[in-house]
Amino acid sequence: MVKVAFIGWRGMVGSVLMDRMIAENDFNGFEPVFFTTSQFGQRGPDIGMDIPPLKDAYDVKELVTADIIVTCQGSDHTKEVYPKLRKAGWKGFWIDASSALRMNDDSIIVLDPVNRDVIERGLASGMKDYIGGNCTVSLMLMAIGGLFHNGLVEWITSMTYQAASGAGAKNMRELIEQMAYIGKDAKDLLDDPAGAALDLDKRVIDAMRGSAFPVENFGFPLAGSVLPWIDSEVANGQSREEWKGIVETNKILGTEKTIPIDGICVRIGAMRCHSQGLTIKLTRDVPLDEIAGIISEANDWVKVIPNTKEQTLKYLTPAAVTGRLDVPVGRIRKLNAGSEYLTLFTVGDQLLWGAAEPIRRMFKIAMEYVS
Ligand code: HSE
Repeated sequence: MVKVAFIGWRGMVGSVLMDRMIAENDFNGFEPVFFTTSQFGQRGPDIGMDIPPLKDAYDVKELVTADIIVTCQGSDHTKEVYPKLRKAGWKGFWIDASSALRMNDDSIIVLDPVNRDVIERGLASGMKDYIGGNCTVSLMLMAIGGLFHNGLVEWITSMTYQAASGAGAKNMRELIEQMAYIGKDAKDLLDDPAGAALDLDKRVIDAMRGSAFPVENFGFPLAGSVLPWIDSEVANGQSREEWKGIVETNKILGTEKTIPIDGICVRIGAMRCHSQGLTIKLTRDVPLDEIAGIISEANDWVKVIPNTKEQTLKYLTPAAVTGRLDVPVGRIRKLNAGSEYLTLFTVGDQLLWGAAEPIRRMFKIAMEYVS
C-alpha cells in the first residue's frame, strides 16, 4: 500500500490541511504516517483511523520508506532534511507548503486549477518536487487565471492588503492583542457618547506609540495602522513578497516571455484573508461582459461580484470570505486611462487556496500517479 508521511500537520497551515483532508474524506486508500520534530512516540492526530505513534521528522531512514511526503513544517526543516533524502537515493514525491524549493529548476509550483498542464508535464518528465506557491500569487491566479489563459494580460500592478495570518499564528494573536489594548486603554472615552473624536484619537495614538504596546512579532502597530513592507528587502527596492509576484506567477504559468507584475504589498489588520486591487493592462480591448465571463469560467471557485456597492460590501471582504474556498472578484471596470486598462479587486482565504488547498490537491494528484 502507498505510504504517505505527513510532517508539520499541527501548525496553522498543517491544521487547515488536516481539516480539509478529513472533510473531503481523503484519508483512505493509503497508509498515513505522522512525523513530529519534538514529540516522538506520542499520539498523532485524530483522523478517524488507527495510526502508528509519531515518528521523528529528522529521521531520514524512516522518511525514505514513504512514497509521498507532505510537509507544512516550514523552510528550515525542508532545507535540513530534503537534501539528505535525495542524497540517500529517495525517489518519492515531496509536496511542500514552504518556499525553500519553490524556485528550483526541478520543482513545480502547484496550483492545479490554474496550471494542471504544467503539473502534468512535470509528472511526465519525472519531476518529484511539488511546492505550494506564495499565498498572494496563488490567490491572484485563482481570481484571474482566465485572463492569463486567454492571453489578455500585458502587465499587472498589484496593490495588496495582506492579513496577519501570512506572517504566522503568533502575529494573528498579536493583532488582536493590539486591538484589545487600544480598546481597553480608550474604554472610558468610548463609554462617553458625548466624547470628542479627537480626544479618542489622541488616546489611541498615545497607546499605539507607548512602550507597553504589544509589538513583539510585527515590530510595529498594525491595529489602527498598515505596514507597507512584507518580508525582507531585495536588491531593486522591492520587498521579497513583491518580487515573488513576478517570479512565481511566471513560473506557475510556465510563460515563455515574462509577464511584468509589480506593486506594493501591504499588511493590514485582517485575520486570514488577503485582498488585492489589481490594475491590468490588457493586450487588447475586450468588453467588460466578456471579461467577466472569462474570469468566472476559469475554475469552480472564482465568483464574479457585480460592481454595485451593495454586492461588493456584502461579498467582497475578508469578513465575508474567511473560511471559504470561494475567490470573489469584483469592482471590475475599465479605468479612465483607456479601454485596455482594467481594474478589479479580489479576496481569498490565505490559509485555504493561499496555502493548504493546493497542497491537498497535489497530494491527490500524486496519489493517482503512484497508485
Ligand atoms: N508571505 C505571505 C504573507 C504569506 O506574508 O502574507 C505566505 O505565502
